[in-house]
Amino acid sequence: MAKVAPSILSADFSAMGQAIKDIDVAGADLVHCDVMDGSFVEPITFGGQMVKNIRKITNLPLDVHLMIEHPKTQIKFFADAGADVITVHYEACSKISPTYLEETLQLIKSYGVKCGAVINPDTDAEKIYSVLPLCDMVLVMSVFPGYGGQKFIPTSLENVKKLKKFALENGLNYDIEIDGGVTVDNAEEIRAAGANVLVAGSAVFKAEDMACAISRIRG
Ligand code: DX5
Ligand code: ZN
Repeated sequence: MAKVAPSILSADFSAMGQAIKDIDVAGADLVHCDVMDGSFVEPITFGGQMVKNIRKITNLPLDVHLMIEHPKTQIKFFADAGADVITVHYEACSKISPTYLEETLQLIKSYGVKCGAVINPDTDAEKIYSVLPLCDMVLVMSVFPGYGGQKFIPTSLENVKKLKKFALENGLNYDIEIDGGVTVDNAEEIRAAGANVLVAGSAVFKAEDMACAISRIRG
């Protein structure tokens, strides 16, 4: 069955504790934490301290999506904060060196934390094939990172399908997560393409009935 990871980017940051309790009660499978540095993407959100505080109030796995430059320098903070999975962008890593993504994934694993690579909607999934044997998860962006509430980009499903095919052909079993513009209406098509972890920010936090939205997205 698919899993739903509500993105706390759409929560009220002044009432984060309540937001975590709400999604926990509503049946979330993971908590998606969007870390933005004001450089890789325009906005700044939060760092390890937020993840550490959230860790204390929920047993749900914490899924940390790093939208930052130089992710290697930050891994220790998020690992120490109690992240269960940390994902890093191919686009941020490939700017630094051809081996930086692989080194960062290995570093995440060295802390005993699950790791994953993220690709933007205009990055071909083939770019990360070489690191997939290392990945517990791959994150396919279905909007350009930076903001919640954007419209789903349907061509991103091509990346989901390629990554699903690659897993089947190579005996790998990483999770395929999709992030951006997921709604109760497009979730079925996304799951059918092969995604098994669906991030949803506005579709969960702006729903009248969170539990209902989560169960419909899960399918
Ligand atoms: C975008 C973030 C997403 C965002 C999704 O940069 O990575 O996780 O919160 O929000 P929705 O579901 O509203 O598109
Ligand atoms: Zn995200």
